[in-house]
Amino acid sequence: MASTVISQSALFSLPKTCQFRKKKPFSFVSKRAVSCKANSGKENKDESSSSSSSSLGSFDRRDVLLGLGSLYGATNLVADPFALAAPIFAPDLSQCGDANVPLRKSPGTNVSVHCCPPVSTNIIDFKPPRFTKTRTRQPAHLVSPDYVENFKEAIKRMKALDEKDPRSFTQQAKVHCAYCNSAYEQMGFPSQDLQVHNSWLFFPFHRLYLYFFERILGKLIGDPDFALPFWNWDDPGGMTIPDIYVDPLSPLYDAKRNPKHQPPVVMVQGTTTTTLFHGKEYRMGYSTDPGAGIIENGIHLSLHKWVGDPNQPLKEDLGNFYSAGYDPLFYAHHANIDRMWNLWKTKLPLPHCDFKDTDWLGSSFLFYDENANLVRARVGDCIDTKTLGYDYKDVDLKWLENECGSTRKTIGKAKNPLPGTRNAFPLVLDKLVRVDVPVTKKSRNVVGEEDNGEQVVILQDIQLERDSSVKFDVCINVTDDKKTIGPGHPEFVGSFTNIPHGHHHHGSKLNTQLSLSISNAFKGLQLEDEAKVVVTLVPKEGEGLVSVGNIKMDHIRD
Ligand code: C2O
Repeated sequence: MASTVISQSALFSLPKTCQFRKKKPFSFVSKRAVSCKANSGKENKDESSSSSSSSLGSFDRRDVLLGLGSLYGATNLVADPFALAAPIFAPDLSQCGDANVPLRKSPGTNVSVHCCPPVSTNIIDFKPPRFTKTRTRQPAHLVSPDYVENFKEAIKRMKALDEKDPRSFTQQAKVHCAYCNSAYEQMGFPSQDLQVHNSWLFFPFHRLYLYFFERILGKLIGDPDFALPFWNWDDPGGMTIPDIYVDPLSPLYDAKRNPKHQPPVVMVQGTTTTTLFHGKEYRMGYSTDPGAGIIENGIHLSLHKWVGDPNQPLKEDLGNFYSAGYDPLFYAHHANIDRMWNLWKTKLPLPHCDFKDTDWLGSSFLFYDENANLVRARVGDCIDTKTLGYDYKDVDLKWLENECGSTRKTIGKAKNPLPGTRNAFPLVLDKLVRVDVPVTKKSRNVVGEEDNGEQVVILQDIQLERDSSVKFDVCINVTDDKKTIGPGHPEFVGSFTNIPHGHHHHGSKLNTQLSLSISNAFKGLQLEDEAKVVVTLVPKEGEGLVSVGNIKMDHIRD
């Protein structure tokens, strides 16, 4: 059952070649931080991070901050309450409402799912314990029999806890449901849902979630060094559901998975720019879903969809956010996602830096820890996994070697890219469409070698129903419609995926955008001097259910 190979080697599409790069000129250094060391997030926000697309004026935000100050006690705020910082605050659990889960078979209908955690008024601010030993997360397909026995025992005990215990497996699964299906509203902005996907909260939220999950498991088996396994889907040996999860008699098994396992092609994408990697800024008062990063919307969602059972009403378990946490495999999948964050920062040739923005660093969430205490943890607490006491086992990164050895060859200028078929926006994706998109001077990398920015294509104003299952691929300068283009082809630049999820305040329409790096495609297809490119959108699921408001090229830099 687990034997279907996900196929093809994973590619980490480095936007730049792996060749040695010259030092950047000083003028750039001043624009970009030299080191990736994050600050604590407690300082005031600097002016460079204040540009935003928020509908919220700075004065409103200050009012809200002051209001929250009286609610939370001023010590919980930034040092200067007049600073215009506006991170997303941990929610008020007593205000948790039922999560909304859209019913796939009857569009427009939502079912309510109760996934609120127990309420506790005593909130502790998270301080990572002193760890004497680093817990090493290993690939799930390579763990020892002893490890598997321990892990199974830990999950078994977690499943055996009283359902009301916040550490029970059910409550742990509900954590995801509550943060992802709009059970919470934003502190200070009750008219806005709190959503941890499709934004810069994606990596840190899930990192912390797994951290507490792992600590609870360790406690339950009396092993403080217990580490979760990761689903090493970026390695040829890991491109199946790992064996330890497929025995129907094991506590690691979940019946609600796709029995056919139609394999997606694994494509791990890298990028030099922080926003492209992490996702777009999401501050207090913002609407949900400003835009996902390339890992979140790429391999992350593809694997959710791949594992979820199409015969379940809502593609449970992994195929829907409200139920994803009920499959033990979820935590291994997210451990690998979390590992990507580490790899992006430590293994790729360029310095890749996290945001320094205090609204990001100061955003917080609530979790129950291994002693059932309610803990408020901030993004700034989880920047380095070593402070959380864990790391990932070093395994071969075949995709990285491939990329450096440039398997992804330059195929040369496409002789006759197929012309655009439509140019009126919004474009409804009812079938394959091609759009001519001008490459302006500004949107081109004019700085050359020294510049570490990135060429991107931006799909703006993507609209769809939140409860729809949608996927489409994005390619550029395709010369033959009949040829299937996927990851590994230079024409392929990424895809857009939506997993149905609920909402309370925003109506049923999801409005988001997608930025994809096309630096590799530009290089591979030798498009540097072209005045336009032809962007092809290929619907894969949910034809006619999604529209795109505009497509443009840009050249971005952190
Ligand atoms: Cu919170 Cu994989 O999703």
